[in-house]
Parts: sequence; C-alpha cells; structure tokens
Amino acid sequence: MRKLGRGRRIRANALGELALKSKKVMTQTLKQKSFKKLVVANWKMHGNLKQNETLLKDFVATISNLKNTQVVVCAPYPYLAQLQSLLQDTDIAWGAQNLAKEEIGAFTGEVSAAMLKDFAARYVIIGHSERSTAYCESDENIAKKFVTAKNHGLTPILCVGETLIEREAGVMEMVVGKQLDTIIKLYGPDVFVDAVISYEPIWAIGTGLAATPAQAKSMHQFIRNKISALNNNVGNRLKILYGGSVNPQNAVQLFEVSNIDGGLIGKCSLNAKEFEGICQAAEKAN
Ligand code: PGA
Repeated sequence: MRKLGRGRRIRANALGELALKSKKVMTQTLKQKSFKKLVVANWKMHGNLKQNETLLKDFVATISNLKNTQVVVCAPYPYLAQLQSLLQDTDIAWGAQNLAKEEIGAFTGEVSAAMLKDFAARYVIIGHSERSTAYCESDENIAKKFVTAKNHGLTPILCVGETLIEREAGVMEMVVGKQLDTIIKLYGPDVFVDAVISYEPIWAIGTGLAATPAQAKSMHQFIRNKISALNNNVGNRLKILYGGSVNPQNAVQLFEVSNIDGGLIGKCSLNAKEFEGICQAAEKAN
C-alpha cells in the first residue's frame, strides 16, 4: 500500500472522520424521516353516542389502514368504551384528554391512568391550554400527570405553547423552554423517551389562524434541540406535533416541514371529510 506523508495522513484521517460524521447525520435524519406521522383527533367536549358512531364509522372506512400515519382519537371519558368497541379491530388507536396525577383514592371527579388502561387507551393528552388556563393547572401538576401516564405505559401527548402577547414580546422559546424544564428538572430528560410533544401556540387554537410553517419549524427545532442537547437519542426519537387551526389545506404545507411529525386536530377532527383530508396530507408527506 502506498504510504502517505504525515500532512496527507492527517488530512485523510480528517476526511474519514468527516465521512463518518455525515453518515451518522444522514442515518439520524433518515431515522427521523422514517417516523410514521401521528395525527391525533382532540374532540374536546363534543359528541354524543349517535354522532360519535357515525364519525368513527367514517374514520374506519377512510383512514383506518394508512401505511405511514398513525391515527388516534382522544374523546371525552364517557366515550372510551365506545371507542374501544368500534376501533378495537382497526389500526386507529384511542386515548383520553386528561388524567389524574394520583394513582387511586378520594379524588372526586378524577380519572386515573389505570382506568384509562381498562378501556385499552394508549394515548393521553396532557397540559392542553384549554385545561391549564380554565382549571389553573400548574406546570408541576402537568409534569406529575406526564410521569404518571408514562409509568402506566400510556403515551403522553404533552401540549406546550405561548400566548399571543408572549409571541409578540419574542419570548416564546423562553416560555416553552420553561414548560419543558419543569418536567426535566423533576424527572430528567429520559422521561421523554417515546413521548409526544405537541406545539400548540395558544393564539392559533380554535382561531382559524394557524402558525406558518416557518414559525412551527423554528419552534419544533428549538424543542428537539433542547431535548437532544440532554440526550441525543431521546431527542431524535421524540415525536413533535403541531396543533392549532390545522385544516386539510394548511396541513399539506405544515406536514412537509422536517421536524413536524404530525398534528393535534381540534375542530376539523369533528368532520369526517376534513379529518380524512388532514390524515391524507400526513400520509403523503412521508
Ligand atoms: P383546533 O384545536 O384545531 O380547533 O384549533 C387544536 C387543539 O386544541 O389542539
């Protein structure tokens, strides 16, 4: 073999390292890219047995066997049994919109993680701003619910996001960073393994004014970087959804953005055609 001089050897080594590094980055990007998209219906306090049945049957007929997209329906507690009976033989998963931080006991009106598991729920939304604002949920409370869900094998969908005033003041990253820090300080970054974070700018929820793909991209990048800096593997595997006025039209552009791994859908998840359109946008974006 031809011998290289010292200078060339150093350059060759450096080139080798560079090639290795870019291979690693490529595999990571591929890994990130090979995620299934996740589209979650958040029905909020809507529905009744009859309407739900029609809607769920439509979902099953149109979006129950997508290849690249996991669809989830999060309904009010009383309908979990209905979700289980209508969705159990399909690829659509289901979940709740909240849970108690406690395990069991004298907590009138609360519903525990174990109870959700009794109805084969796999997901639970945590810290949605409509709850944290109206029911004064602190970040610490939300953190406890997050870890309770994890301890029971439920996938928590943690909602984070800033108000319009905070965005206009340019402190949105500080606000979202603080929401994440509460969990990280209490339980460490590894608690985010296989969890889902949903970036939900409060000004975009139910207003018809979605974040632009650029605004969402930058916040999703911030969230991933923050977790990756503490544990690269956990950060890479984290699914980050966008929520706030997603419709079948803006979903096309939003889901094309790298780092947007799906969406949390309120209003449009109550309409079978619109929800199908959003799920199809996710399916095509992969
Ligand atoms: P929206 O709700 O789609 O009606 O804006 C989104 C959400 O609350 O997550």
